[in-house]
Amino acid sequence: MSEFDLVVRGGTVVTASDVFKADIGIIGGRIAALGLDLTGQDVIEAEGKLVLPGGVDSHCHIEQLEADGSIHEETFETAGISAIAGGTTTVIPFSAQFKGEPISAHLDDYRARAGRSPIDYALHQIITDPTDCVLDKEIPQLIEAGIRSLKVFLTYDPLHIDDRQFLRVLEAAKQLGATVCVHCENYEAIRWRSEALLAEGRIEPASHALTRPKVVEREATYRAIALAELVGQPIHIFHVSCGEVAEEIARAQRRGVKVTAETCPQYLVLTAADMDRPNGEGAKFMCSPSPRDAGDAEGLWAAIRAGTLDVISSDHCGYSFAGTRGKWINGLGADFTRIPNGIPGLAARMAIIFSEGVVKGRIDLNHFVRLTATNPAKRFGLYPRKGTIAPGTDADLVIWDAEKRVTLTNSLMQHAIDYTPYEGFDVTGWPVATIARGRLVMTEGKVVATPGSGSFLKAS
Ligand code: URP
Ligand code: ZN
Ligand code: ZN
Repeated sequence: MSEFDLVVRGGTVVTASDVFKADIGIIGGRIAALGLDLTGQDVIEAEGKLVLPGGVDSHCHIEQLEADGSIHEETFETAGISAIAGGTTTVIPFSAQFKGEPISAHLDDYRARAGRSPIDYALHQIITDPTDCVLDKEIPQLIEAGIRSLKVFLTYDPLHIDDRQFLRVLEAAKQLGATVCVHCENYEAIRWRSEALLAEGRIEPASHALTRPKVVEREATYRAIALAELVGQPIHIFHVSCGEVAEEIARAQRRGVKVTAETCPQYLVLTAADMDRPNGEGAKFMCSPSPRDAGDAEGLWAAIRAGTLDVISSDHCGYSFAGTRGKWINGLGADFTRIPNGIPGLAARMAIIFSEGVVKGRIDLNHFVRLTATNPAKRFGLYPRKGTIAPGTDADLVIWDAEKRVTLTNSLMQHAIDYTPYEGFDVTGWPVATIARGRLVMTEGKVVATPGSGSFLKAS
């Protein structure tokens, strides 16, 4: 008689700290045992392959409402398919608040859309208008509901908050035990640079990088850390783009400030020069902070190795190139300040990090697992249910062919977007099967995703 519902047999299991050969026995969607010669009603052969915890992408924008009323083109369904295709089994997207409105104006709607997710998800809440009611009533309600991380923007016209508002969010978070994630760029500096470039008629996508050089990010990072230090509230810094900014974080960590930070694949493999591409194609690479220069990636890898940056997320943004709600929502040739920021990357994240990190000898296998699964799960209150392989945890697994060579194309991403910024990029290492809570949801690129089968995860 079979002991288990499903056995993943003969693979090399990798966790944050160990690499060992074992069968994995699964019952009721959870890992029940790790051992040898386990028997199951169903068996998936993983001999010669790595078995990793399913990826946890702790920063991705899915079906998000924007201040102009547009909604990102990637839905929870399509994003879930794309995540599964790339080996990610948990996502943390954002419900948004807009100025002049309470959080409640959009939260229920957003949660209803998220209910269509085929994979498990937690939620962040964007705070753009921290009124007394938001701070004293709505944030406590979020915490009660299991939404424990808040994102604030120090830039972007419709979203940014000033230093006093930021201090008030930090203070509320401290009282309630919430996490505060920060987008660090200097709003006024970017406005000043943008006005000057527009006055010169330099409207093209490449100007985007010129409005926000590294110092603009470094200043805001320093300020965010200093204010968090003043309040005594830990913060998590999103999308660090270069070593110079990571050094600011390392200095704070060395003096004991509780600050953690992530980077994203775009800062490891894209550069500002990509935004020079003709016929509006530069917009395909436009995100904030901007991708930096060739050579900057090594500074990030050094910060990753040092532990200064301990999460790598995709910062996936579902804006198409040619669609009416995408990059050229304001018309092809609109000036760079009117092009939505953000690029898609859910499916490419794990493969790019594996290839650039593990295969190129910059990090080891355990470090790869920590960056892509364990640390984001820990940082956002989902561990140990997510982010590891151990008895009692959710059976979210990815079977990984460490030798498979793949050239990234848009169709491999399996998203609803008409391009990938990583088109033509060669990787070694690719997911060959994904298992989400004990269900085989991808084999050799074929995704079977049932809308609504993902669960909302309460952060602890
Ligand atoms: O350009 C980016 N990163 N867009 C997404 C929103 C954000 O700032 O994370
Ligand atoms: Zn951001
Ligand atoms: Zn983002």
